[in-house]
Amino acid sequence: MGRVAYVNGRFVRHSEAAVHIEDRGYQLADAVYEVWAVFGGRLADAPGHFARLKRSLGELRIAAPMSDAALMIVLKETLRRNRVVDGQIYLQVGRGVAARDHAFPNPPVAPSVVITAKPIDLAASEARAAVGVGVVTVPENRWGRCDIKTVGLLPNVLAKQAAREAGAVEAWFVDELGLVTEGASSNAWIIDEHGVLRTRDVQANILRGITRGTLLGLMAREGLKVEERPFSPEEAGRAREAFITGAGTLLLPIVRIDGRPIGAGKVGPVAKRLRQLYIEEARRTAL
Ligand code: PDD
Repeated sequence: MGRVAYVNGRFVRHSEAAVHIEDRGYQLADAVYEVWAVFGGRLADAPGHFARLKRSLGELRIAAPMSDAALMIVLKETLRRNRVVDGQIYLQVGRGVAARDHAFPNPPVAPSVVITAKPIDLAASEARAAVGVGVVTVPENRWGRCDIKTVGLLPNVLAKQAAREAGAVEAWFVDELGLVTEGASSNAWIIDEHGVLRTRDVQANILRGITRGTLLGLMAREGLKVEERPFSPEEAGRAREAFITGAGTLLLPIVRIDGRPIGAGKVGPVAKRLRQLYIEEARRTAL
C-alpha cells in the first residue's frame, strides 16, 4: 500500500484524500495544526506539541476532537501505515464543515481532523546542516496572535517564497523596532559577539517553539550562557554563529543573512554540537 492519510475518522489513499468544500479550515483558515519530528517511528517532543495543540484549540474555542490517548493511537497508526521511521507527521484540526459564515456555526459542528506523515532523508538533512543555509529578512506583517499555531500562514508563505527567490532557505521577520521576531517556519537564534546564545522571549508575538523549549533545557544542562532577548539583523551580521529550530528543520545552522556571511560564513562548533545534542535527546525521549 502507498501513502495514506487520516481524514475525519478514516484512513484513505493519500492521492484521493479530500475535505469538504465548506470545511472552515479550507475557506477561512479556521484551523490549527501541529508538526512532530519522528525518530524511529516515535514522536519527538510529544508532550510539548500535545500541550500546545490543546492551547491553540482553547484559544480559538475549537473542541478537542478526541482525547490525547486516542490521538496518539491515530498518529502512531498513521506512521505505521505509511511505514515512516524517520520523518514528520502533520496534524490539522479545524472548526468543522458548515455553510460559509464568518461567525462560529451554531450549534457547533464536529471538528475536522486530517493527519499526514512523510519520511525524511536524515542523511540529506545532515548534509545540509553540515554546510549551513542562508536567511533573508522581511518586514513583520503578521497578526497579533502568532502564539496560536493556525493554518493562516499567508505572510509566512510570502516570506518563505522571498527567501527561496533570494537563494535562501528561511526568512526572518523583523518588527517595527528593527528586531528579529522569528522565522517563517522556525525560531531564530544567534550566538552573539560575546558568545551568548540569544533567542527572542515568548512574551513577544511569536510561536512558542517546542524545539526551542527543549533546546533551552539542553543549554541549561550544558551550562551555556543563554539570554531570551531579541536581536537585530545587524547583531546577527556580527554574530559568531546563528541557527534556526523547529520540528521541520530540527536545528539548522545559518551562515548568511541577506547575502552577507555570519561569522566566518561557515557552520560553527556550537550550532553543530547543539544539533547533535538535540537529535540525541529527541530520539531518547520520543514516544
Ligand atoms: N513550524 N515559528 C513558526 C512560525 C513555526 O511555524 C514553527 C514550526 C516554529 C518552530 O516551532 P516547533 O519547534 O514547535 O516546531 C516557530 C512547523 C514545523 C511548520 O509550519 O511546518
